[in-house]
Amino acid sequence: MQVRVAHDAPLDARTGALVVPVFADAQLDGATKAADEALGGAIADIVQSGEIAGKPYEMALVHAKDKPFRRVLVVGLGEREKFESFMLARYAGAAVRYLGRRNVTDVTIAAPREMSANTTAGASFLAEGAIAASLDTTLYQEKPEKRTAVERVTILSSGLDDGAVVRGAERGIVVGESVNFARRLALTPANDMTPAHLANEAANAARDAGLSIDVLDEERARAEGMGSFLSVAQGSAQPPKFIVLTYTGDPSSKELLALVGKGITFDTGGISLKPPERMEEMKYDMSGAAGVIAAMRAIGTLKPKINVVGIAPATENMPGGKATKPGDIVKAMNGTTIEVINTDAEGRLILADALCYARKLGATKIVDTATLTGACVIALGHAAAAAVSNDDDFVQRFLGAAKPSGERYWQMPLYDDYASQMKSDIADLKNTGGRPAGALTAAAFLKSFVADTPWIHLDIAGTAYVDNESAWIAKGPTGTPVRALIAFVESLAGSPVIHTNGAARAARA
Ligand code: BES
Ligand code: MN
Ligand code: ZN
Repeated sequence: MQVRVAHDAPLDARTGALVVPVFADAQLDGATKAADEALGGAIADIVQSGEIAGKPYEMALVHAKDKPFRRVLVVGLGEREKFESFMLARYAGAAVRYLGRRNVTDVTIAAPREMSANTTAGASFLAEGAIAASLDTTLYQEKPEKRTAVERVTILSSGLDDGAVVRGAERGIVVGESVNFARRLALTPANDMTPAHLANEAANAARDAGLSIDVLDEERARAEGMGSFLSVAQGSAQPPKFIVLTYTGDPSSKELLALVGKGITFDTGGISLKPPERMEEMKYDMSGAAGVIAAMRAIGTLKPKINVVGIAPATENMPGGKATKPGDIVKAMNGTTIEVINTDAEGRLILADALCYARKLGATKIVDTATLTGACVIALGHAAAAAVSNDDDFVQRFLGAAKPSGERYWQMPLYDDYASQMKSDIADLKNTGGRPAGALTAAAFLKSFVADTPWIHLDIAGTAYVDNESAWIAKGPTGTPVRALIAFVESLAGSPVIHTNGAARAARA
């Protein structure tokens, strides 16, 4: 699908459908008003009759066979006061999904006037949402059902700063494609998405985005002392891969941000085998790694002034004659010994070595992301991911940058109590701390591998994939945490593109 920007007046657009917004207040303005007049008041009628009540992403289609734009799709944006830029991704996504299923190939999107508060961000979200909506999630169907018919999306810049729209759309295309890249990696089943396959995908992304790549095989991982990582891999017939992508955007700086993602290409639980129900979802247990690889692809393409290393330890977690057994004691890269109480608590074991390796590479700040605990899903459901940190300023910065991306993160505490739950009677640590605060004892375990480095842990177990579809995106992998990681890296580099509404209002004042 192609996304472009055009300066046409909305009513002059030659297209399969013109997409216009309405707010709950039913005040028609801009392109919506122009379209309403051209249609003899049909849009006002749709809103006033209650056909659209003003809830976000409600839609109504009006045919206009004799006009150059042929159809008008009215999309609700909810209450005007609650409008935020990221809603434009959902607005565009809902339109592309609706029209794509109805065989419309060419779509033209008008923006609400509210977008002028932050034009670049708004255009970025429009492009991102249109692209995310077009992902084919029926990859393995002989005759795919859900492939979108939409081939071309045009964003109208009339009434806006054309240059800002073009810049925003260019960024949004990179974000949307990176989000889809992460989703495709996660969707691909574990018989195809092996650690070696993930490393190949990372190598292709590195080539496309101008990153350097290093993939440590089992032998090199052993030479580095990654006993914790390798203890998870030892039950699998698939060789593990420890993937490292490097972007140097600020060669004169000694600062290095590490993004670390959990890459369990399938989590059976190992000898502590999971029950069969929904075990197939554990192909998504590499969503953290996919998010890091995809964010690195975006960073290499967008070129912010910052140095970033992406680290993705990849392995299966399988039972078998060589698998780790409960009670086994393994040693991480930094010499810490770990008693493996439950082989299903494997994510923290591979992250332990990845965090040590990040520090060995000179990381001065670390963000890790992982589908780490079922306990996180119990705590926050699918509504938000948990953010846990050893540095309050650093995590506030992350939360501030992530919020306008549309992905939700909620900070959870890291009391010393949780660390004491992770002490072993026989080794330095054990890998489970019992049921209470399971997401936070896992975080406390990870904390002991970052020493004093400012660090944020993002548990995305509840947000990396969803099992119900929404108007704007298919069910399955969501692309979380790609949007937030990109926004955070841009913010740290001093070149943020998206802001909160508050920032937009301040900029106008
Ligand atoms: N990958 C799972 C966590 C998970 C569960 C992600 C559900 C997404 C949905 C992780 O490896 C795991 O199995 N964690 C255990 C830890 C426990 C044994 C301490 C869990 O959460 O049950
Ligand atoms: Mn597990
Ligand atoms: Zn897991």
